[in-house]
Order: sequence, then structure tokens, then C-alpha cells
Amino acid sequence: MIKDLHSYFAYFVLLMLIIAVANAVIGFTTNKKFTAKDLRISLFALIFTHLQLLVGIILYFTSAKGWQTFSTTKIGDMGGARLIALEHPIIGILAIVFITIGWSKHKKQETAKRAFGKIALFYGIGLVLILSRLPWKIWLGLS
Ligand code: HEM
Repeated sequence: MIKDLHSYFAYFVLLMLIIAVANAVIGFTTNKKFTAKDLRISLFALIFTHLQLLVGIILYFTSAKGWQTFSTTKIGDMGGARLIALEHPIIGILAIVFITIGWSKHKKQETAKRAFGKIALFYGIGLVLILSRLPWKIWLGLS
């Protein structure tokens, strides 16, 4: 099921993003070289988030909690349903925009420190945005 895919893949997405941000912060603060390994870590995090976006969009239009809720309910009347019908998708997309900008900006930097800095900043913002609007209770089975 597409929902299970989105639900389980979320672990890999978050893990990869945390690794990429931590790696970039370490690179930035210790003045390391930007190696092929650093490129691969940042690229995998980018690809994982984009795959999650694709699955999320499909889910939005197949789940009853996405477009179906959004198109039939006034925003003011949504209550708790607003998280999945509106906040989680919009903030998720915004987060992926930040991550993509970070990826393209890091390539244009002249020093390794600045390249690590762009990844740390933009991927970090993306990670915080995603975490701020995850349907935590549903995901972790708390409700
Ligand atoms: C950016 C990274 C994203 C992560 C890490 C993520 C993660 C998650 C998680 C953990 C859940 C709860 C799944 C469960 O019930 O166990 C979920 C639900 C959902 N996500 Fe995402 N998501 C992301 C982006 C998106 C985007 C961009 C969209 C839509 C455009 C989207 C649409 C949905 C929908 C509609 C549900 C609710 C499905 C249902 O319960 O029927 N997600 N997401």
C-alpha cells in the first residue's frame, strides 16, 4: 500500500537527512575537504526526500485525508484534519524546496567550508520544517 510505503520510507528519509546535516556541520566546523563521500551523502538525502515527495503527492490524491478532505471541508472547520490535509504537505514541499536549493548552492561554492555550510543550513532548515509538521501521533501509533 502506498501509505505504508510513505510511512516506512519516512524512517530512511529522516535518517539520511540527519546524517547529511550532521556530516555537513562536522565538515564545516573541522575544515575538512569536501570529498566524494560527502557528495554521496548529500545526494542520497536529496534523492530520498524527492522520492518521498513523489509518494506523498500520490498519497495526497488517493487518501481520504488529503485532497478529499481539503476539497470538501472549510479550513476553519477542519480541526485536527488540517495537519494532513494542509500543513504536512505544504510544509513538506517547502522543506524539499529548501533542500534542493541547498544542493544546487553547495555546488557553486569555491571552498569546502562554504559548500558544507550551504548543506548544513538549507538541509537543516528542511529537516526542522519536516519534523515540525509530521503527523507524529498517527505515525507512532499514539492515536
Ligand atoms: C518531506 C518528507 C515527508 C515525510 C518524512 C513524510 C512522512 C509522513 C509520515 C511519517 C506520515 C504518517 C504515515 C502513517 O500513517 O504511518 C505521513 C502521512 C501523510 N503524508 Fe507525508 N511525509 C513527507 C512529505 C509529504 C508530502 C510532500 C505530501 C503531499 C504532497 C505528503 C502527504 C501525506 C499524506 C496525505 C499523509 C496521510 C496519509 C493517510 O493517513 O491516509 N507527505 N507522511
